[in-house]
Amino acid sequence: MSNLWSGRFAGEPDPDVFEFGRSFPFDRRLIEDDIRGSLAWVAAIAAAGAIAPSDAAAITEGLQGILADVRRDPSSVDGPDEDVHAFVERTLVERIGEAGKRLHTGRSRNEQVSVDLRLYLKRRIPAVQQAIARLVAAMAGQAERAGDAPMPAYTHLRRAQPVLVAHFWLAHVAALRRDHRLFDVALEAADSLPLGSGAVAGTSYPIDVLAIARDLGFGHVAANSIDASSDRDFVSVFLHACALAMVHLSRLAEDLVIFTGEEFRFFELSDEVATGSSLMPQKKNPDPLELVRGKSGRVIGRHAGWLATMKGLPSGYNKDLQEDKEAVFDAEATTVQCLAAMKTVVAGLTLDAARARRWASGLLLATDVAEYLVARGVPFRKSHEIVGGMVRRLVADGREFASLSAAEWAAFSPEFQPDVVEAITPAAAVSARRTPQSTNPAAVAAALDGVRAWLERVDPDGRTPA
Ligand code: ARG
Repeated sequence: MSNLWSGRFAGEPDPDVFEFGRSFPFDRRLIEDDIRGSLAWVAAIAAAGAIAPSDAAAITEGLQGILADVRRDPSSVDGPDEDVHAFVERTLVERIGEAGKRLHTGRSRNEQVSVDLRLYLKRRIPAVQQAIARLVAAMAGQAERAGDAPMPAYTHLRRAQPVLVAHFWLAHVAALRRDHRLFDVALEAADSLPLGSGAVAGTSYPIDVLAIARDLGFGHVAANSIDASSDRDFVSVFLHACALAMVHLSRLAEDLVIFTGEEFRFFELSDEVATGSSLMPQKKNPDPLELVRGKSGRVIGRHAGWLATMKGLPSGYNKDLQEDKEAVFDAEATTVQCLAAMKTVVAGLTLDAARARRWASGLLLATDVAEYLVARGVPFRKSHEIVGGMVRRLVADGREFASLSAAEWAAFSPEFQPDVVEAITPAAAVSARRTPQSTNPAAVAAALDGVRAWLERVDPDGRTPA
Protein backbone atom coordinates (compact mmCIF):
# COMPACT_ATOMS: atom_id res chain seq x y z
CA MET A 1 0.00 0.00 0.00
CA SER A 2 1.24 3.52 -0.69
CA ASN A 3 1.26 6.17 2.01
CA LEU A 4 0.51 9.88 1.83
CA TRP A 5 4.24 10.47 1.30
CA SER A 6 5.37 7.40 -0.68
CA GLY A 7 6.59 9.34 -3.74
CA ARG A 8 9.66 10.51 -1.90
CA PHE A 9 10.98 6.99 -1.26
CA ALA A 10 12.29 4.28 -3.53
CA GLY A 11 11.24 1.29 -1.44
CA GLU A 12 8.73 0.18 1.16
CA PRO A 13 9.04 1.29 4.79
CA ASP A 14 10.27 -1.20 7.35
CA PRO A 15 7.04 -2.89 8.46
CA ASP A 16 7.87 -2.91 12.18
CA VAL A 17 9.00 0.70 12.28
CA PHE A 18 5.98 1.76 10.22
CA GLU A 19 3.73 -0.07 12.67
CA PHE A 20 5.57 1.67 15.51
CA GLY A 21 4.73 5.06 14.02
CA ARG A 22 1.09 4.39 13.18
CA SER A 23 -1.62 6.20 15.12
CA PHE A 24 -4.62 4.71 13.32
CA PRO A 25 -5.21 2.06 16.02
CA PHE A 26 -6.13 4.86 18.44
CA ASP A 27 -6.84 8.00 16.38
CA ARG A 28 -9.69 6.24 14.53
CA ARG A 29 -11.78 7.65 17.35
CA LEU A 30 -11.39 11.04 15.64
CA ILE A 31 -13.07 9.88 12.44
CA GLU A 32 -16.16 12.10 12.73
CA ASP A 33 -14.07 15.13 13.71
CA ASP A 34 -11.68 14.49 10.82
CA ILE A 35 -14.50 14.34 8.31
CA ARG A 36 -16.13 17.45 9.77
CA GLY A 37 -12.84 19.32 9.48
CA SER A 38 -12.40 18.15 5.89
CA LEU A 39 -15.93 19.19 4.92
CA ALA A 40 -15.17 22.71 6.16
CA TRP A 41 -11.80 22.65 4.44
CA VAL A 42 -13.13 21.64 1.04
CA ALA A 43 -15.70 24.45 1.18
CA ALA A 44 -12.92 26.91 2.05
CA ILE A 45 -10.51 25.89 -0.73
CA ALA A 46 -13.34 25.93 -3.25
CA ALA A 47 -14.32 29.44 -2.11
CA ALA A 48 -10.68 30.48 -2.44
CA GLY A 49 -10.65 29.20 -6.04
CA ALA A 50 -8.04 26.54 -5.26
CA ILE A 51 -10.21 23.71 -6.61
CA ALA A 52 -13.12 23.59 -9.07
CA PRO A 53 -16.66 23.71 -7.72
CA SER A 54 -17.44 20.36 -9.37
CA ASP A 55 -14.51 18.68 -7.56
CA ALA A 56 -15.58 20.33 -4.31
CA ALA A 57 -19.11 18.98 -4.79
CA ALA A 58 -17.80 15.47 -5.46
CA ILE A 59 -15.50 15.59 -2.43
CA THR A 60 -18.30 16.87 -0.18
CA GLU A 61 -20.64 14.14 -1.31
CA GLY A 62 -17.89 11.54 -0.91
CA LEU A 63 -17.06 12.68 2.63
CA GLN A 64 -20.72 12.66 3.58
CA GLY A 65 -21.01 9.14 2.21
CA ILE A 66 -18.01 7.99 4.27
CA LEU A 67 -19.52 9.60 7.35
CA ALA A 68 -22.83 7.79 6.81
CA ASP A 69 -21.00 4.48 6.26
CA VAL A 70 -18.83 4.70 9.36
CA ARG A 71 -21.83 5.70 11.46
CA ARG A 72 -23.68 2.67 10.17
CA ASP A 73 -20.70 0.37 10.69
CA PRO A 74 -18.03 1.75 13.03
CA SER A 75 -15.93 -1.39 12.53
CA SER A 76 -15.33 -0.27 8.92
CA VAL A 77 -12.92 2.38 10.26
CA ASP A 78 -10.07 -0.03 9.74
CA GLY A 79 -7.19 -0.74 7.42
CA PRO A 80 -3.42 -0.59 7.03
CA ASP A 81 -3.42 3.25 6.98
CA GLU A 82 -0.89 5.28 8.90
CA ASP A 83 -3.53 7.41 10.62
CA VAL A 84 -7.17 8.47 10.46
CA HIS A 85 -6.33 11.26 8.00
CA ALA A 86 -4.74 8.77 5.58
CA PHE A 87 -7.73 6.45 6.02
CA VAL A 88 -10.23 9.16 5.07
CA GLU A 89 -8.21 10.26 2.04
CA ARG A 90 -7.71 6.69 0.79
CA THR A 91 -11.38 5.86 1.26
CA LEU A 92 -12.40 9.09 -0.46
CA VAL A 93 -10.25 8.40 -3.52
CA GLU A 94 -11.54 4.80 -3.68
CA ARG A 95 -15.04 6.22 -3.60
CA ILE A 96 -14.95 9.21 -5.96
CA GLY A 97 -11.67 8.78 -7.89
CA GLU A 98 -9.27 11.55 -8.95
CA ALA A 99 -11.23 14.46 -7.42
CA GLY A 100 -10.51 13.00 -3.98
CA LYS A 101 -6.82 13.70 -4.51
CA ARG A 102 -7.56 17.43 -4.40
CA LEU A 103 -8.88 17.49 -0.82
CA HIS A 104 -5.47 17.99 0.78
CA THR A 105 -4.70 21.10 -1.34
CA GLY A 106 -3.06 23.76 0.82
CA ARG A 107 -3.42 21.68 3.98
CA SER A 108 -1.12 19.69 6.25
CA ARG A 109 -1.84 16.86 8.66
CA ASN A 110 -0.06 18.96 11.28
CA GLU A 111 -2.98 21.39 11.46
CA GLN A 112 -5.54 18.73 10.63
CA VAL A 113 -4.73 16.59 13.65
CA SER A 114 -4.91 19.64 15.89
CA VAL A 115 -8.33 20.59 14.48
CA ASP A 116 -9.57 17.03 14.99
CA LEU A 117 -8.52 16.82 18.61
CA ARG A 118 -9.91 20.28 19.36
CA LEU A 119 -13.26 19.35 17.81
CA TYR A 120 -13.21 16.09 19.77
CA LEU A 121 -12.65 17.85 23.09
CA LYS A 122 -15.23 20.51 22.30
CA ARG A 123 -17.88 17.79 21.98
CA ARG A 124 -16.63 15.53 24.79
CA ILE A 125 -15.90 18.02 27.59
CA PRO A 126 -19.63 18.72 28.14
CA ALA A 127 -20.11 15.00 28.84
CA VAL A 128 -17.36 15.08 31.48
CA GLN A 129 -19.05 18.12 33.02
CA GLN A 130 -22.35 16.29 33.03
CA ALA A 131 -20.75 13.38 34.91
CA ILE A 132 -19.46 15.90 37.46
CA ALA A 133 -22.93 17.39 37.83
CA ARG A 134 -24.46 13.93 38.40
CA LEU A 135 -22.07 13.30 41.27
CA VAL A 136 -22.83 16.76 42.67
CA ALA A 137 -26.55 15.90 42.51
CA ALA A 138 -25.92 12.68 44.48
CA MET A 139 -23.98 14.62 47.13
CA ALA A 140 -26.67 17.29 47.31
CA GLY A 141 -29.18 14.47 47.89
CA GLN A 142 -27.08 13.19 50.81
CA ALA A 143 -26.79 16.73 52.19
CA GLU A 144 -30.53 17.18 52.03
CA ARG A 145 -31.32 13.83 53.66
CA ALA A 146 -28.82 14.50 56.47
CA GLY A 147 -31.01 17.37 57.73
CA ASP A 148 -29.54 18.86 60.90
CA ALA A 149 -27.42 15.82 61.84
CA PRO A 150 -23.96 16.81 63.11
CA MET A 151 -20.70 14.94 62.66
CA PRO A 152 -17.15 15.71 63.68
CA ALA A 153 -14.96 17.69 61.29
CA TYR A 154 -11.28 16.78 61.36
CA THR A 155 -7.96 18.52 61.13
CA HIS A 156 -4.83 16.33 61.17
CA LEU A 157 -7.42 13.54 61.14
CA ARG A 158 -8.13 14.37 64.79
CA ARG A 159 -11.63 15.41 65.81
CA ALA A 160 -11.72 19.22 65.59
CA GLN A 161 -15.22 20.76 65.70
CA PRO A 162 -18.80 19.67 65.08
CA VAL A 163 -20.21 20.42 61.64
CA LEU A 164 -23.41 19.45 59.88
CA VAL A 165 -23.13 16.28 57.81
CA ALA A 166 -24.60 18.42 55.01
CA HIS A 167 -21.65 20.78 55.38
CA PHE A 168 -19.25 17.88 54.83
CA TRP A 169 -21.01 16.97 51.58
CA LEU A 170 -21.11 20.56 50.38
CA ALA A 171 -17.34 20.80 50.91
CA HIS A 172 -16.83 18.12 48.27
CA VAL A 173 -19.48 19.78 46.09
CA ALA A 174 -17.50 23.04 46.20
CA ALA A 175 -14.37 21.30 44.87
CA LEU A 176 -16.29 19.57 42.10
CA ARG A 177 -17.95 22.79 41.04
CA ARG A 178 -14.47 24.30 40.62
CA ASP A 179 -13.62 21.29 38.43
CA HIS A 180 -16.70 21.93 36.34
CA ARG A 181 -15.50 25.50 35.81
CA LEU A 182 -11.97 24.33 35.00
CA PHE A 183 -13.39 22.19 32.21
CA ASP A 184 -14.91 25.40 30.83
CA VAL A 185 -11.35 26.74 30.75
CA ALA A 186 -10.27 23.58 28.90
CA LEU A 187 -13.10 24.15 26.41
CA GLU A 188 -11.94 27.71 25.90
CA ALA A 189 -8.34 26.54 25.37
CA ALA A 190 -9.51 24.16 22.61
CA ASP A 191 -11.60 26.86 20.96
CA SER A 192 -9.06 28.12 18.42
CA LEU A 193 -8.88 27.11 14.76
CA PRO A 194 -5.39 26.10 13.54
CA LEU A 195 -6.42 25.57 9.87
CA GLY A 196 -4.70 27.97 7.48
CA SER A 197 -1.38 27.34 9.19
CA GLY A 198 -0.26 24.80 6.58
CA ALA A 199 2.66 22.62 7.63
CA VAL A 200 4.28 25.51 9.49
CA ALA A 201 4.43 28.68 7.37
CA GLY A 202 0.77 29.23 6.47
CA THR A 203 -1.20 28.47 3.32
CA SER A 204 -0.59 29.88 -0.15
CA TYR A 205 -4.31 30.16 -1.02
CA PRO A 206 -6.48 33.06 0.15
CA ILE A 207 -8.38 30.90 2.61
CA ASP A 208 -11.11 32.65 4.64
CA VAL A 209 -10.11 31.20 8.01
CA LEU A 210 -12.83 33.15 9.81
CA ALA A 211 -15.43 31.45 7.64
CA ILE A 212 -13.97 28.03 8.51
CA ALA A 213 -13.98 28.98 12.20
CA ARG A 214 -17.63 29.96 11.92
CA ASP A 215 -18.45 26.80 10.03
CA LEU A 216 -16.79 24.56 12.66
CA GLY A 217 -17.94 26.58 15.67
CA PHE A 218 -14.54 27.93 16.76
CA GLY A 219 -14.51 31.24 18.63
CA HIS A 220 -10.92 32.11 17.68
CA VAL A 221 -8.33 31.60 14.95
CA ALA A 222 -4.67 30.75 15.59
CA ALA A 223 -2.48 33.85 15.76
CA ASN A 224 0.72 32.29 14.39
CA SER A 225 1.22 29.33 12.04
CA ILE A 226 4.42 28.04 13.70
CA ASP A 227 2.78 28.12 17.12
CA ALA A 228 -0.40 26.55 15.74
CA SER A 229 1.46 23.51 14.41
CA SER A 230 3.04 22.73 17.77
CA ASP A 231 0.52 24.14 20.25
CA ARG A 232 -1.00 21.48 22.47
CA ASP A 233 -1.71 23.73 25.44
CA PHE A 234 -5.36 22.78 25.13
CA VAL A 235 -4.35 19.16 25.77
CA SER A 236 -2.40 20.19 28.88
CA VAL A 237 -5.30 22.22 30.23
CA PHE A 238 -7.71 19.34 29.66
CA LEU A 239 -5.35 16.86 31.34
CA HIS A 240 -4.89 19.29 34.23
CA ALA A 241 -8.65 19.54 34.66
CA CYS A 242 -8.92 15.73 34.63
CA ALA A 243 -6.02 15.34 37.07
CA LEU A 244 -7.44 17.90 39.49
CA ALA A 245 -10.91 16.34 39.33
CA MET A 246 -9.26 12.99 40.10
CA VAL A 247 -7.40 14.51 43.04
CA HIS A 248 -10.78 15.68 44.38
CA LEU A 249 -12.37 12.29 43.77
CA SER A 250 -9.44 10.60 45.46
CA ARG A 251 -9.80 12.75 48.56
CA LEU A 252 -13.54 12.11 48.67
CA ALA A 253 -12.79 8.39 48.28
CA GLU A 254 -10.35 8.55 51.17
CA ASP A 255 -12.88 10.34 53.40
CA LEU A 256 -15.45 7.68 52.61
CA VAL A 257 -13.05 4.77 53.10
CA ILE A 258 -12.43 6.16 56.59
CA PHE A 259 -16.00 7.15 57.45
CA THR A 260 -17.45 3.80 56.33
CA GLY A 261 -14.81 1.81 58.24
CA GLU A 262 -15.67 -0.07 61.44
CA GLU A 263 -13.98 2.42 63.75
CA PHE A 264 -15.90 5.39 62.35
CA ARG A 265 -19.06 4.01 60.69
CA PHE A 266 -20.75 7.38 60.14
CA PHE A 267 -21.92 5.96 56.82
CA GLU A 268 -22.74 2.45 55.69
CA LEU A 269 -21.79 1.39 52.17
CA SER A 270 -24.57 -0.16 50.14
CA ASP A 271 -24.03 -3.91 49.69
CA GLU A 272 -24.30 -3.38 45.94
CA VAL A 273 -21.00 -1.52 45.76
CA ALA A 274 -19.08 -3.43 48.44
CA THR A 275 -16.91 -6.46 47.91
CA GLY A 276 -16.11 -9.40 50.15
CA SER A 277 -12.99 -11.36 50.93
CA SER A 278 -12.23 -14.81 49.53
CA LEU A 279 -10.88 -15.77 52.94
CA MET A 280 -12.30 -13.59 55.72
CA PRO A 281 -16.07 -14.04 55.85
CA GLN A 282 -16.76 -10.81 57.75
CA LYS A 283 -15.15 -8.40 55.26
CA LYS A 284 -17.10 -5.65 53.51
CA ASN A 285 -14.52 -3.82 51.45
CA PRO A 286 -14.85 -0.44 49.70
CA ASP A 287 -13.09 -1.53 46.47
CA PRO A 288 -14.66 1.09 44.17
CA LEU A 289 -13.45 3.88 46.45
CA GLU A 290 -9.95 2.42 46.54
CA LEU A 291 -9.94 2.06 42.76
CA VAL A 292 -10.93 5.70 42.30
CA ARG A 293 -8.13 6.69 44.67
CA GLY A 294 -5.73 4.45 42.75
CA LYS A 295 -6.73 5.65 39.31
CA SER A 296 -6.08 9.25 40.33
CA GLY A 297 -2.38 8.39 40.14
CA ARG A 298 -2.81 7.25 36.59
CA VAL A 299 -4.53 10.45 35.45
CA ILE A 300 -2.00 12.62 37.27
CA GLY A 301 0.61 10.59 35.39
CA ARG A 302 -1.03 11.37 32.06
CA HIS A 303 -0.85 15.09 32.84
CA ALA A 304 2.73 15.03 34.14
CA GLY A 305 3.80 12.75 31.29
CA TRP A 306 2.32 15.06 28.69
CA LEU A 307 4.08 18.12 30.09
CA ALA A 308 7.35 16.18 29.97
CA THR A 309 6.70 15.22 26.34
CA MET A 310 6.14 18.84 25.36
CA LYS A 311 8.92 20.56 27.21
CA GLY A 312 11.89 19.72 24.99
CA LEU A 313 10.27 20.14 21.59
CA PRO A 314 11.66 22.51 19.00
CA SER A 315 9.16 24.86 17.31
CA GLY A 316 6.83 23.43 14.70
CA TYR A 317 5.26 19.98 14.47
CA ASN A 318 7.19 17.03 15.88
CA LYS A 319 5.99 13.45 15.89
CA ASP A 320 6.24 13.42 19.69
CA LEU A 321 2.93 15.29 19.58
CA GLN A 322 1.19 12.12 18.42
CA GLU A 323 1.39 10.99 22.05
CA ASP A 324 -1.33 13.53 22.92
CA LYS A 325 -4.22 11.34 21.83
CA GLU A 326 -3.71 8.31 24.05
CA ALA A 327 -3.18 10.63 27.01
CA VAL A 328 -6.44 12.48 26.29
CA PHE A 329 -8.52 9.36 25.61
CA ASP A 330 -7.26 7.53 28.69
CA ALA A 331 -7.60 10.50 31.04
CA GLU A 332 -11.09 11.26 29.74
CA ALA A 333 -12.34 7.67 29.99
CA THR A 334 -10.83 7.15 33.43
CA THR A 335 -12.22 10.40 34.82
CA VAL A 336 -15.73 9.78 33.50
CA GLN A 337 -15.69 6.18 34.79
CA CYS A 338 -14.58 7.30 38.24
CA LEU A 339 -17.20 10.07 38.39
CA ALA A 340 -19.93 7.58 37.50
CA ALA A 341 -18.76 4.95 40.01
CA MET A 342 -18.45 7.57 42.73
CA LYS A 343 -21.96 8.80 42.02
CA THR A 344 -23.38 5.32 42.54
CA VAL A 345 -21.40 4.80 45.77
CA VAL A 346 -22.43 8.19 47.19
CA ALA A 347 -26.10 7.78 46.26
CA GLY A 348 -26.20 4.42 48.10
CA LEU A 349 -24.62 5.51 51.40
CA THR A 350 -26.72 5.34 54.56
CA LEU A 351 -25.99 7.84 57.31
CA ASP A 352 -25.79 6.53 60.88
CA ALA A 353 -26.93 9.85 62.35
CA ALA A 354 -26.79 8.68 65.96
CA ARG A 355 -23.21 7.56 65.63
CA ALA A 356 -22.13 10.68 63.76
CA ARG A 357 -23.81 12.80 66.45
CA ARG A 358 -22.15 10.81 69.24
CA TRP A 359 -18.71 11.54 67.85
CA ALA A 360 -19.59 15.19 67.24
CA SER A 361 -19.80 15.54 70.99
CA GLY A 362 -17.11 15.52 73.66
CA LEU A 363 -13.83 17.36 73.90
CA LEU A 364 -14.15 18.74 70.38
CA LEU A 365 -16.52 21.27 71.96
CA ALA A 366 -13.50 22.90 73.65
CA THR A 367 -13.46 25.83 71.21
CA ASP A 368 -17.04 26.61 72.15
CA VAL A 369 -16.17 26.48 75.86
CA ALA A 370 -13.35 28.95 75.21
CA GLU A 371 -15.69 31.22 73.23
CA TYR A 372 -18.25 31.07 76.06
CA LEU A 373 -15.64 32.69 78.33
CA VAL A 374 -14.71 35.23 75.64
CA ALA A 375 -18.39 36.25 75.48
CA ARG A 376 -18.10 37.01 79.17
CA GLY A 377 -15.12 39.27 78.71
CA VAL A 378 -12.21 36.85 79.19
CA PRO A 379 -9.44 37.53 76.63
CA PHE A 380 -9.23 34.67 74.11
CA ARG A 381 -5.63 33.71 74.92
CA LYS A 382 -6.54 33.49 78.60
CA SER A 383 -9.70 31.45 77.98
CA HIS A 384 -7.72 29.12 75.67
CA GLU A 385 -5.39 28.46 78.56
CA ILE A 386 -8.21 27.85 81.07
CA VAL A 387 -9.98 25.44 78.73
CA GLY A 388 -6.68 23.74 77.85
CA GLY A 389 -6.28 23.02 81.56
CA MET A 390 -9.84 21.69 81.73
CA VAL A 391 -9.18 19.37 78.80
CA ARG A 392 -5.99 18.10 80.44
CA ARG A 393 -8.00 17.20 83.55
CA LEU A 394 -10.92 15.68 81.69
CA VAL A 395 -8.61 13.53 79.55
CA ALA A 396 -6.80 12.30 82.68
CA ASP A 397 -10.15 11.42 84.30
CA GLY A 398 -11.67 9.96 81.14
CA ARG A 399 -14.54 12.46 81.26
CA GLU A 400 -16.24 14.98 78.98
CA PHE A 401 -17.60 18.53 79.44
CA ALA A 402 -21.16 17.21 79.64
CA SER A 403 -20.35 15.30 82.86
CA LEU A 404 -19.28 18.41 84.80
CA SER A 405 -21.49 19.64 87.64
CA ALA A 406 -22.19 23.37 88.03
CA ALA A 407 -19.75 23.48 90.91
CA GLU A 408 -17.03 21.82 88.86
CA TRP A 409 -17.58 24.31 86.01
CA ALA A 410 -17.36 27.22 88.42
CA ALA A 411 -14.17 25.81 89.94
CA PHE A 412 -12.44 26.24 86.55
CA SER A 413 -13.65 29.84 86.19
CA PRO A 414 -16.22 31.98 88.02
CA GLU A 415 -17.41 33.13 84.58
CA PHE A 416 -19.05 29.74 83.96
CA GLN A 417 -22.76 30.17 84.74
CA PRO A 418 -25.44 27.44 84.78
CA ASP A 419 -26.37 28.28 81.14
CA VAL A 420 -23.02 26.82 80.04
CA VAL A 421 -24.67 23.38 79.92
CA GLU A 422 -26.95 24.34 76.99
CA ALA A 423 -24.18 26.30 75.28
CA ILE A 424 -21.86 23.32 75.04
CA THR A 425 -23.61 20.91 72.66
CA PRO A 426 -22.98 19.99 69.01
CA ALA A 427 -26.21 21.76 67.97
CA ALA A 428 -25.22 24.95 69.80
CA ALA A 429 -21.72 24.69 68.30
CA VAL A 430 -22.89 24.59 64.70
CA SER A 431 -25.39 27.40 65.32
CA ALA A 432 -22.66 29.50 66.91
CA ARG A 433 -20.73 29.65 63.63
CA ARG A 434 -21.89 32.78 61.82
CA THR A 435 -20.09 33.34 58.51
CA PRO A 436 -21.73 32.50 55.17
CA GLN A 437 -19.21 29.71 54.48
CA SER A 438 -19.66 28.23 57.96
CA THR A 439 -21.58 25.20 59.13
CA ASN A 440 -24.33 27.41 60.56
CA PRO A 441 -27.58 25.61 59.63
CA ALA A 442 -29.01 28.68 57.87
CA ALA A 443 -25.77 29.16 55.91
CA VAL A 444 -25.73 25.47 54.95
CA ALA A 445 -29.37 25.63 53.84
CA ALA A 446 -28.57 28.68 51.69
CA ALA A 447 -25.53 26.91 50.22
CA LEU A 448 -27.65 23.88 49.41
CA ASP A 449 -30.19 26.14 47.68
CA GLY A 450 -27.31 27.57 45.65
CA VAL A 451 -26.24 24.08 44.60
CA ARG A 452 -29.81 23.20 43.64
CA ALA A 453 -30.04 26.33 41.48
CA TRP A 454 -26.68 25.49 39.87
CA LEU A 455 -27.83 21.93 39.13
CA GLU A 456 -30.92 23.29 37.47
CA ARG A 457 -28.72 25.42 35.21
CA VAL A 458 -26.28 22.67 34.24
CA ASP A 459 -28.98 19.98 33.95
CA PRO A 460 -27.14 16.76 34.89
CA ASP A 461 -29.99 14.59 33.60
CA GLY A 462 -30.30 16.34 30.27
CA ARG A 463 -29.37 14.63 27.02
CA THR A 464 -25.78 13.40 27.14
CA PRO A 465 -23.73 15.50 24.73
CA ALA A 466 -22.33 13.53 21.73
N1 ARG B 1 -0.71 10.97 13.30
C1 ARG B 1 -0.11 12.24 13.43
C2 ARG B 1 -0.30 12.77 14.86
O1 ARG B 1 -1.04 12.20 15.53
C3 ARG B 1 -0.74 13.19 12.47
C4 ARG B 1 0.14 14.32 12.08
C5 ARG B 1 1.24 13.77 11.22
N2 ARG B 1 2.09 14.79 10.72
C6 ARG B 1 3.29 14.54 10.29
N3 ARG B 1 4.02 15.53 9.88
N4 ARG B 1 3.79 13.33 10.29
O2 ARG B 1 0.29 13.73 15.29
